[in-house]
Amino acid sequence: MIRKPILVTCGLPYTNGPCHLGHLRTYVPADFYVRYLRRAGEEVVFICGSDNHGTPVVVSAEEAGVTPRSLAEKFHSHFFETFKRVSVIFDHFGMTDDPANHHRTRAIMQTLIDNGYIYSKIVHQSYCTKCNRFLPDRYVEGICPHCNTPARGDECDQGCGRHLEPGEIKEPTCTVCGTRAEFRDQEHYFFKLSEFKDFLLSYLDTLDGTSNARNYALGWVTDELHDWCVTRTLDWGVKFPGREDLVVYVWVDAPVGYIAFTEEWAKKQGKDWKDYWCGDTRVTHFIGGDIIYHHGIFWPALLKGAGYGTPHSIIASGMVKVDDHKFSKSRGYVVWTNEDYLDKGLSPDYLRYYLLSYTNHTKELNFSWKVFQERVNNELVNTLGNFVYRTLYFAHKEYGGIPEGEADSRIIDEINQCLATVDSAVRQYEFKNAVDAMMGLAAFGNNYIQTNAPWKLIKTDRDGARKVIRNCLQIVKALALIIEPVMPGKAGLIWAMLGNRDNLSDHPVSDSVLGLAPGTLDPPKILFEKIDDTQLSELETLLAARVLAAGTIPEKKPEITIDDFSAMDIRTGIIISAEKVPKSSKLLKLQVDIGTGTRQIVSGISQFYNPAELIGKSVVVLVNLKPAKIFGIESRGMILAAGDHASLLKPETPIEPGTKIR
Ligand code: 2FM
Ligand code: ZN
Repeated sequence: MIRKPILVTCGLPYTNGPCHLGHLRTYVPADFYVRYLRRAGEEVVFICGSDNHGTPVVVSAEEAGVTPRSLAEKFHSHFFETFKRVSVIFDHFGMTDDPANHHRTRAIMQTLIDNGYIYSKIVHQSYCTKCNRFLPDRYVEGICPHCNTPARGDECDQGCGRHLEPGEIKEPTCTVCGTRAEFRDQEHYFFKLSEFKDFLLSYLDTLDGTSNARNYALGWVTDELHDWCVTRTLDWGVKFPGREDLVVYVWVDAPVGYIAFTEEWAKKQGKDWKDYWCGDTRVTHFIGGDIIYHHGIFWPALLKGAGYGTPHSIIASGMVKVDDHKFSKSRGYVVWTNEDYLDKGLSPDYLRYYLLSYTNHTKELNFSWKVFQERVNNELVNTLGNFVYRTLYFAHKEYGGIPEGEADSRIIDEINQCLATVDSAVRQYEFKNAVDAMMGLAAFGNNYIQTNAPWKLIKTDRDGARKVIRNCLQIVKALALIIEPVMPGKAGLIWAMLGNRDNLSDHPVSDSVLGLAPGTLDPPKILFEKIDDTQLSELETLLAARVLAAGTIPEKKPEITIDDFSAMDIRTGIIISAEKVPKSSKLLKLQVDIGTGTRQIVSGISQFYNPAELIGKSVVVLVNLKPAKIFGIESRGMILAAGDHASLLKPETPIEPGTKIR
């Protein structure tokens, strides 16, 4: 049987903001995987593009005062250029707003309609009476009905991660004007996702890729599977067949982009896109862990319903943290690919190495500049760079290049063992293990040259020194070929320093054990530069400044249970007396009637209130706070206040002191 060629895709970035570390956490491993498979002799096509539709783009365009298309074009070019700068090279990088995708999306929708998988229904949609419009997806915020966490209209992005259907969100508020939304009836179209339960259970059971993708999706399918609203009231997007007033939901036309971009690529190459997408496929999706639901459930069901082949593998990356904080653009915990990294003159290969070797692909990656510095300095500079330089320097100095001879069989065995470990790790999506094995070979080489010290040996045994350096040169050659998928730039440099004039990427990784032809070499160049402490401090300061600038947005605290809340005895009170605490500019000593008696409370509100104006005021008191001595005065409780100016909380209507707050 002829094996189909592999088609690898990456989740499409929304064209509403620049590329950051969170993107690279998925794109770099995908590029690594593609490069490795090619080095291993597989035929692979690597497809991606930008995600131009949906409310993420419309809302941002509205804020920026530009059309969605112009915002899409701007960030499309940005991503295209940025990916090239980090050596993530796609065979094709399309746009979901281009005609090929409009055409393919409508064709798939029409087939689903013809196959009886689409029906219409009247639904309650969030509507803003001030903006006079329906509020799809990111136009609305509220509370997730499943986990009670603040959520976006179509996604519980801060809590349980579930997809939310239109009308599901509780306490909906318009994100544009802040008005509490109301629900209004509107006709929409639904995909019969629930009919695909059995298909999905068996599909997911054998789905290849990382276990997180399979297991999360299986859990959701087993728990609940509702039909899926596939239309939205927007002007921007792919028109739903037969309805000029509706577009299809972005989560339909975005993944369809994978097919449309394959069509665009195949047309240029004189190939047939159906070879990739029909019948059994070897479609391999690299995605972020936050979009497993869409790729593991919606997408295979859509494809199945429309008669296409279903994806062979889903590889989902773990989340990114920055300095132990959840990745957050609004709170400043972000590393921008251009501004914070490439434009600072840092090598893309350092970041690729860090991302691939930091942890397993499915685990959380906690980025810090300090660890980045340690990894670059200790591993790339001291181990890999040092070994390559010492080998090439000695070969050039003593022999003017590569001397006659061949590597010992134990060196070839060592390289073969590394090749086998890398191959099996990559095929199991254990990218860190693969990179560790590569660096293991570099460490072996470093140790070998140090132990055998050809610079000493040459004084007594010239032939022995030649043999040692031949062995080292063989390892250097192998390293160039093996590390190419991780650090293509540096690997190419090693390849050139070995006197090769052709492209490293034209060679299979198995060439690692082929001998090197003797020849002259130029003096070697330094491969990796250390990150010094001054540069580290600049990078850390930039991040700290950004977090500080974003500081107006308070950090969300972890969720508590209702029991945690009930543990607090909060009651209304009335201030009976108030006086300044001597020698303190901030403190007032208050006597507060809390219904069951009077409490003495020391409160830090002196800058904002005169004692006299407080008498008789209703307040809210945390009664069961552990007593404490403040400025030598006992304080039993806390008056609740909001904001930087200690605005005192008070009941809306007059109420007895001692009334419990619930
Ligand atoms: O979550 C996102 O950023 C989406 N733009 C990913 C789309 S992936 C695919 F389905 F197109
Ligand atoms: Zn939730």
